[in-house]
Amino acid sequence: MKKITIAIDGFSSTGKSTLAKQLAQKLQYVYVDSGAMYRAVALYALQHKLIQNSVLNTEELINNLPLIKVAFQYNASLKASEIYLNEVNVNTEIRTMEVSNTVSIVASVPEVRQQLVALQQHMGAKKGIVMDGRDIGTVVFPDAELKLFMTASADTRAQRRYDELVAGGTTVSFDAVLENITSRDHLDSTREDSPLFKSEGAIEIDNSKLSLDHQFEKVLALVNSKIDFKNP
Ligand code: DC
Repeated sequence: MKKITIAIDGFSSTGKSTLAKQLAQKLQYVYVDSGAMYRAVALYALQHKLIQNSVLNTEELINNLPLIKVAFQYNASLKASEIYLNEVNVNTEIRTMEVSNTVSIVASVPEVRQQLVALQQHMGAKKGIVMDGRDIGTVVFPDAELKLFMTASADTRAQRRYDELVAGGTTVSFDAVLENITSRDHLDSTREDSPLFKSEGAIEIDNSKLSLDHQFEKVLALVNSKIDFKNP
């Protein structure tokens, strides 16, 4: 069957990765979490003290870019890909609040974006990929056969993220999570390079009140409408 490219963009914590994983599993496609790649670069910047008091040493980060290798490796027991920063598994470390609070600053550096976008385009060169992020339908795969733009109210998103963090053992206040989400929304959609916006041809999905199953059914119908069965 013909393979397509599926680009999923949207605000933080709109369930992009949950949907992308469901789709990749159902269609036997590769799933790439592009946000994890920006988080890995932010982690590198934190580890090397290139970010202090939320101020990034942009020049030094750019100088270090050739030394930053980000890659995914499939973990058969988890049945999922995990992210590696310079050969070290950083799958858990990239999800801390410290990384969440600094990643948008790192993601606004054009040189960082160029390096990661080139890698993302290489990963998707053969199609059969589901990638989620902020600029997938606009910059990375503007010709993707299916583009989705996910939204949900800020309160709904903060509650989901808060529940996830608490379930993972993190002590955090709901207000801190809400503040992180709204400030990232603002930074991501107002930055100069590749801001988050709904790309032309993207289908908007507001899942504030949509169950996961219902959303998946809806999107699967869209995927099927894009796969030309007569032309495998
Ligand atoms: O999807 P996420 O919340 O893990 O993404 C982390 C940050 O990375 C997000 O605040 C914006 C940035 N990002 C981006 O600029 N472009 C992408 N394609 C993916 C993420």
